[in-house]
Amino acid sequence: MKVFRFYEHGGPEVLRLEDVAIGEPQRGELRIRNTAVAVNFRDVLVRRGTHAVKAFPSGIGVESAGVVDAIGPGVNDFAVGQRVVCVAGPDTAYAEARIIPAARAIVLPPAIDERTAAAMMIRGMTARYLLKETYLVKPGDSILIHAAAGGVGQIVCQWAKHLGATVIGTVGSDEKAAVARAHGCDHALVLGKDDIAERVRALTGGEGVPVVYDSIGKATFEDSLRCLRRRGILASFGEASGDPDPVPPRRLGQLGSLYVTHPSLGDYTATRAALVEAANDLFNMVTSGKVRIDIGTTYPFAEAPRAHADLEARRTIGSIVLTVP
Ligand SMILES: NC(=O)c1ccc[n+]([C@@H]2O[C@H](COP(=O)([O-])OP(=O)(O)OC[C@H]3O[C@@H](n4cnc5c(N)ncnc54)[C@H](OP(=O)(O)O)[C@@H]3O)[C@@H](O)[C@H]2O)c1
Repeated sequence: MKVFRFYEHGGPEVLRLEDVAIGEPQRGELRIRNTAVAVNFRDVLVRRGTHAVKAFPSGIGVESAGVVDAIGPGVNDFAVGQRVVCVAGPDTAYAEARIIPAARAIVLPPAIDERTAAAMMIRGMTARYLLKETYLVKPGDSILIHAAAGGVGQIVCQWAKHLGATVIGTVGSDEKAAVARAHGCDHALVLGKDDIAERVRALTGGEGVPVVYDSIGKATFEDSLRCLRRRGILASFGEASGDPDPVPPRRLGQLGSLYVTHPSLGDYTATRAALVEAANDLFNMVTSGKVRIDIGTTYPFAEAPRAHADLEARRTIGSIVLTVP
């Protein structure tokens, strides 16, 4: 079967499509034949080396959806032929087929097709924990979400509106501002054009927001701090532009006793029960129509390097998915 692997960190060109034998699932594992593979921004960070891999050659990608075609010993709650999605599994998702721990697999409801699943699970479960656990968004809150037209961003905007919040978002262009607004963003600010901290203060009567969701990192971190109200929370959950500069804790005091956290989906879905609860909550939001999943672009599986190049050049809108023939 065809698998993307890489032998060194670098640009999209380090991803090589190779023929690899897959083998049989061992105890606690499933083998799935992928039909859709998620391209998450995290995959770009792994490929670049911002997140180190355990060993080379390494596979890439953690999320894919497909059909179970073999089951290892000790797995009782899955059946061959079932449609499943693997959420945050091992770095082997960019493949025609893969072996995954059954503990990271979720059976898809009939209403969710595999491409939609690959577009929404990590992104939607991330949106969920950010809005309901890192900070519990309440009706009447104003929140700030960066990359509001991106994969995570579109879901955060819609879910936050459902929770009764006013959503302020940042985007990279006027075109993306229109997309963010179409997904519930009340005020779409354009990076490099608007003074983000000044606009957020103006939109919140001078007070600032209780929470900023920042996945851009270095380029926005300082502005994010300056947008917070007293005792507000900066959820720094990604670093698309690089790691932010260090901040001495005393400075957080000077800015209003702020909190800074770097949350990760793995820590919010560490148990099977937490993973299933989060998945079911997300499925309910999507199947009830409260959150719409728009797949921004699909690429043929073999064009994963082009998908990476587009994602890191900020050319994509919403979630992107590789379709496996
Ligand atoms: N911690 C967690 O648990 C967790 C889980 C999932 C995802 N994440 C993070 O959440 C973010 C969103 O993930 P996603 O897969 O849905 O990606 P995405 O938001 O669709 O794509 C990244 C977006 O970031 C913005 N951006 C701003 N500066 C950038 C730069 N220098 N380079 C590249 N992009 C830049 C771009 O939007 P504009 O052009 O509109 O600015 C770009 O479209 C990523 O940073 C990812 O690592 C974290």
